[in-house]
Amino acid sequence: MPTPTAFFQGDFVPLEQAQIPVTTHAFNYGTAVFEGIRGNWNGEQNELYLFRLREHIQRLRQNAKILRIGIRYSDEELIRIVTDLALRNDYREDVYIRPIAYKSQSVIGPRLHNVEDDVLFYLIPLGAYLDSDSGITCTVSSWRRVDDNMIPARAKVAGLYVNNSLAKTEAQQNGFDEAILLNHDGHVSEGSGENIIIVRGGKLISPPPADNILEGITLDTAFEIARSLGYETEQRTIDRTELYIADEIFMTGTAAHVTPVLSVDRVPLNEGKPGPITTAIQRHFFEAITGRLPQYASWLTPVYAGAAVTA
Ligand SMILES: Cc1ncc(COP(=O)(O)O)c(C=O)c1O
Repeated sequence: MPTPTAFFQGDFVPLEQAQIPVTTHAFNYGTAVFEGIRGNWNGEQNELYLFRLREHIQRLRQNAKILRIGIRYSDEELIRIVTDLALRNDYREDVYIRPIAYKSQSVIGPRLHNVEDDVLFYLIPLGAYLDSDSGITCTVSSWRRVDDNMIPARAKVAGLYVNNSLAKTEAQQNGFDEAILLNHDGHVSEGSGENIIIVRGGKLISPPPADNILEGITLDTAFEIARSLGYETEQRTIDRTELYIADEIFMTGTAAHVTPVLSVDRVPLNEGKPGPITTAIQRHFFEAITGRLPQYASWLTPVYAGAAVTA
């Protein structure tokens, strides 16, 4: 079995050696942006497919810009690093890659300027994050989503995820699987680690970016699949009460894939079963991410086919 490997301080190193000092700025002040990238395993093809790698790298770079973090590698170099990382770790199962662009200097004082930065990547095996087979229960959180003028949700800032964690823990301790956060004006924003899509009258609706969501790559994927199946899609502000009267709801995310929501605040949706449109999109999605639908091949980076490890 190969040694679990990370990319840290410019080199591939054993994961256990990728350690930051307690004095690191990002650890003290949450000054980091991160990504999640899936590698989806196809056992019949013996292949691990990285999903929409370029889009994740581009989003990392954009978000780093918001935190004034300069990434010293080109997109092509980052794509190569992630592919090599997956190859070196050599897992034959679904994996999750975590890039972090962070303020790496040991220095006191909250600020973004004049602090050194770096980027690291690690990889872990990760199966289902939520129960995407059976579906999940949700509750509307008493915690409000942070606003763009507080900490921008679109930027996937490490420190911002305290907001998500408060909501997730409240939901689980109250007996639900996942939280749905409203934004400061009371409209639906997103889950603690997922975007939300409601289905009404055969149309798929999700909140617009200005309602304090992460501009999800899986959301974009689900919408593209939905349109290919003949469904209309729309991004518009969603009222809380639409969560209770929607025909179907599902959540999307790199970790969560496409996960049906069975109820919100114990109000059942589609009689508490995954809805037909959700199920159709979910089936298509799983086939697409595991390399079974040639029309979506451009979304996939195969790790093992023709790959060569760089020195
Ligand atoms: C808060 C939040 N919303 C939405 C998403 C889904 O985004 P994506 O599909 O790009 O992973 C995530 C996960 O990355 C998230 O953390």
